[in-house]
Amino acid sequence: MKILIAFYSRDGHTRKAADILGKILNADLDEVVDNKNRKGILGFLRAGYDATMEKTTEITFSKDPSEYDLVVVGTPVWNGRLTPAIRTYLLQNREKIKNAVFFVTCAGRPGKCLKQMKEIYGKEVLMERVKVRKRLEGEARVFAEELERLIHTLKGP
Ligand SMILES: Cc1cc2nc3c(=O)[nH]c(=O)nc-3n(C[C@H](O)[C@H](O)[C@H](O)COP(=O)(O)O)c2cc1C
Repeated sequence: MKILIAFYSRDGHTRKAADILGKILNADLDEVVDNKNRKGILGFLRAGYDATMEKTTEITFSKDPSEYDLVVVGTPVWNGRLTPAIRTYLLQNREKIKNAVFFVTCAGRPGKCLKQMKEIYGKEVLMERVKVRKRLEGEARVFAEELERLIHTLKGP
């Protein structure tokens, strides 16, 4: 089974979770890059504003999700919402994702981020998880084990 982990990360937490998942599941990783500068205090303020206003952005990514049996999509939570990068990624790729799993990383207040992801995708999501950044490593490993069980059931007997 071919698995893709597509993620956006501003500060490294979601990347770390994606790396752990990728290694355990032997999956391909695709880091979605937001072409808008999100660094520094201005970048931070704009990030929160753009997420709240449900803005899209210009993104760069390299893998075609239609080539995968399962696509795991990860994003940080910004102001209780979805990042513009993953909003754009889902809008551009929702038709190409056959089986979806979503996860978000946050400081503890996930808000409506997963709800927004599901609304954009518009189809059934196989699994969704919130990962709190201070417990990230342990939580990512538990998540990988849950995904292994899911993959096992998808493969069938
Ligand atoms: C602009 C901005 C807004 C944020 N808003 C929230 C929030 O509403 N709830 C929360 O729990 N964490 C919030 N965070 C924290 C991030 O979701 C958390 O640190 C996440 O793990 C960062 O992922 P990254 O390191 O991959 O960028 C926010 C961070 C940023 C930069």
